[in-house]
Amino acid sequence: MIAQKSVERILDTARIDEVVADFVTLRKRGANLLGLCPFHTEKTPSFTVSPAKNLFKCFGCGRGGDTVKFLREHEGFSYPEALRFLAAKYQIEIEETQEQRRDDPEEILKDQLFVVNQYARDYFSKQLFESEDGKGLGLSYFKERGFRESILKKFDLGFAPTSGSALTIHAVHEGFRAEILQQAGLSTTHNRDFFRERVMFTIHGLSGKPVAFAGRILGKTAKGPKYINSPETPIYHKSNVLYGLYFARQAIRREDNCYLVEGYTDVLSLVQSGIENVVASSGTALTAEQIRLIKRFTPNMTILFDGDAAGLNAAMRGLDLVLEQDMNVRVVVLPDGQDPDSYLSALGPEKFLHFLETERKDFILFKTSQLLKQSKNDPVARTQVIKEVVKSISRVPDPIKRGEYIKVCSQVLQVEEALLIAETNKLVAADIQKNNRDRERQERREDIQTTSPDPTLPTAETKPEKHPPQELDLVRILLTGGDKIIQVGDEEYSVANYILRELEEEVIQEFKSPLLRTIMLDFMDRIEKGNSISPKVFLQHPNEDIRNLTIRFLSPDYQYSDNWEERYQIVLHTQRMPEDNFARDAQLALQRYQLHKLDHLCEMNAQRIKEAFEAEDEEQYLHYLKFQQELQTLRNNVADQDLNTVILK
Ligand code: UTP
Ligand code: MN
Repeated sequence: MIAQKSVERILDTARIDEVVADFVTLRKRGANLLGLCPFHTEKTPSFTVSPAKNLFKCFGCGRGGDTVKFLREHEGFSYPEALRFLAAKYQIEIEETQEQRRDDPEEILKDQLFVVNQYARDYFSKQLFESEDGKGLGLSYFKERGFRESILKKFDLGFAPTSGSALTIHAVHEGFRAEILQQAGLSTTHNRDFFRERVMFTIHGLSGKPVAFAGRILGKTAKGPKYINSPETPIYHKSNVLYGLYFARQAIRREDNCYLVEGYTDVLSLVQSGIENVVASSGTALTAEQIRLIKRFTPNMTILFDGDAAGLNAAMRGLDLVLEQDMNVRVVVLPDGQDPDSYLSALGPEKFLHFLETERKDFILFKTSQLLKQSKNDPVARTQVIKEVVKSISRVPDPIKRGEYIKVCSQVLQVEEALLIAETNKLVAADIQKNNRDRERQERREDIQTTSPDPTLPTAETKPEKHPPQELDLVRILLTGGDKIIQVGDEEYSVANYILRELEEEVIQEFKSPLLRTIMLDFMDRIEKGNSISPKVFLQHPNEDIRNLTIRFLSPDYQYSDNWEERYQIVLHTQRMPEDNFARDAQLALQRYQLHKLDHLCEMNAQRIKEAFEAEDEEQYLHYLKFQQELQTLRNNVADQDLNTVILK
């Protein structure tokens, strides 16, 4: 543990402008610095750094915080990792709390494992570049495959010697205990080297430390498995690690896309050719943790499938996991018999990149056409295809995206859109119910409901009639698309930021519906704190009414009451072409809310005029009359607002 004294020193010393400047180009604007937000794509800068407050804030996506927060979000660091990074940057010596260290055997073991792995990494590397065998067998093998020394060094590649226990003997000689070497998976229980006569791949954790190794057999003829890997240890959980991520982070963020390949050598190959935003799943099925790792840096991933196509269907099934995490997934299938490494060598970098960019397809559409191809015209198989596709679509948390998929897939599958909507909604509702039940169980509520109410049916609090329509409309837009980025004039805002900027807190306090008021204030709070405002958060909201309201809004076929349109002249733009209309929708909703309020004020004022007139109070009468004119002018201005100044980004 870092001593509190050191923590304070680090936080006092670290300057937000200096920390951010390592990652973002900033220019001065008044007392602040301004740049393009590294957390979302934007063309006009809305990412502000305030040296005075020692804080950053993005007015586009709402993210904000101090130096540590920035590093955690940008670099995916944990809290202590961020502190250590800052300490290194400012050359502050960290004082560790000794007692705590001695107290926590788990932490001590982890540290020991890191240290022994560092030793092994250096040992393997030295062998590769300096020993006879290493140069003759290992280095020549890598060179034959076209890997240059710079890439071998960058990725800490190495060579495990042929002799049975060279590493173990050297390490023990250096003072490492045999037991630790065994625990790290470097030595067998008989104190022989686990990796022998293999080229070695160091697997790095997110902060660059060696957490594990993989050893590849030389050539094709030798017996034994092609790759062997370190076992799971306290510092290595296979499902939690992506090969190459440590080196790829910046590029992934920069390109706003992550390529996912299967093999270690595929990563090396691509990086060597200048395609740096690439990681490998290491031949296993992608896990939820791995996806979350990628998601820290981008919501977009492109999966490169090897051309053997054997495991394609199984692999595709695994990808619903990715959709669930609200990632945009595209896939590329390489030609028969090729993997990224071989195909890149065959085409050269330029053509290879061009191939990726032209051949990549949206995952759900790819899956749909792929399954359709396989089902031929067999009606039973076709039903199965529809089920599979609906299952994938239902995993997409964003209702707008779901709607789009339904539209396109209904064309590809030649099925009524309504049918797909109904089937998708069933699964979505079932899923949400299950989630809610799971959570409730988790919270150890005493009285678990055995029959959960159907969340797609309005409950008392979520009935639209209960709330003033103008207020409900604003909340609907926030809950379904508050995190969408729109452009207002030259500035970019999230929809939520835009709406809340227009409606100050006092105005929100005037909301008639307590539930809607709570939601609006919740949004304000989240934006201030830089917390997520994605619809998903509200689907998981602790308040059940908010949860249910969100679910109702998010159903693709959400309707207000039947005669909503006539009664309130509200055109449900988000129902048809959502992507195009979020900006317009937000503006219209604000306008309607303001008009409604002004109408109300006019009415009240008219009453006052009448009273003054009846009381023959000329002064008051003229005063209110003038105010009425001002209100009218204001109302006309609001009504005439140019609706074209706000566009969706
Ligand atoms: P591949 O067989 O495609 O290997 O396995 P590769 O990475 O392309 O290696 P080269 O190019 O033939 O040298 C893909 C990944 O599956 C895992 C490894 O992570 C490998 O990179 N794998 C494969 C194993 O863990 N064990 C094996 O025996 C084989
Ligand atoms: Mn390969």
